[in-house]
Amino acid sequence: MVSSNLLVEDRGAVRRITLNRPDKLNALNHATLTDLHQAFEAAGRDDAVRVVVLTGAGPKAFVAGADIAEMNGLSPVQARDFSRHGQALMRRIETLGKPVLAMVNGFALGGGLELAMACHLRILADTAKIGQPEVNLGLVPGFGGTQRLLRLAGRGAALELCLLGQPIDAARALQLGIATRVVAADQLEAETDRVADQLAASAPQALRGVLDAVITGGDGPLEAGLDYETQVFAVAFSTQDMKEGTGAFLARRKPEFSGR
Ligand code: COA
Repeated sequence: MVSSNLLVEDRGAVRRITLNRPDKLNALNHATLTDLHQAFEAAGRDDAVRVVVLTGAGPKAFVAGADIAEMNGLSPVQARDFSRHGQALMRRIETLGKPVLAMVNGFALGGGLELAMACHLRILADTAKIGQPEVNLGLVPGFGGTQRLLRLAGRGAALELCLLGQPIDAARALQLGIATRVVAADQLEAETDRVADQLAASAPQALRGVLDAVITGGDGPLEAGLDYETQVFAVAFSTQDMKEGTGAFLARRKPEFSGR
């Protein structure tokens, strides 16, 4: 896929998608949302891709939000479509069925934090700043921020970030459970590669089962979630990788997962 808004590169089974509008701090305009949607569709379809890393180009930002210049001219009907467009992308990422890591190299504000929260793990540089500053613009988060922040970090954190609109630093993001881990900025890439490689060597169907159980199974009441977990647990027994993983443990050797 060729896009001026994104860079896409593969390192083994790890696909890196880089938002590439550094002069606008990688702000999400309509075209970039569309390109991201297509890039995630392609990554989801490609069996050779086992893990996706999402990041932003340039030294300053992961993503500094939805494109304010573009939003300034929207009618309410266009705003509704823009919100739905963004939300559909976030849901596509969340339900991709393979792990997506956000490598947060700087500002993740507004739509940037919403994008990072749709990813399954968030690795932050210690210099990163995250927040939902929409109220400062007379706006409300529209790409799922109120709902994902609530589910990820609880009502207190969701209201603190969305009402006050102040960015928080990486240490506070870790404390609130929004960051998965925080590393020195010069270690961000190496640490993200390390986590991505670990996931790429893991059994893809088992990872998919975990993602399905936590994300889809976790959306309903406990009984339904437990039932969902039983289903994905049983499905794992149909895979060669389950035989390989348990057999390798018993034979005291390292497993080689094929993805089947
Ligand atoms: N939408 C559109 N353009 C944006 C943007 C956004 N969300 N965030 C930054 N930009 C643009 C700026 O307009 C500027 O473009 P220009 O050089 O053509 O004027 C460029 O990116 C660099 O941003 P700048 O503000 O000069 O950088 P800074 O280092 O002084 O400040 C931020 C960085 C992140 C604090 C500041 O850009 C900011 O507050 N951005 C908006 C954050 C926000 O409210 N996001 C939520 C949107 S709903």
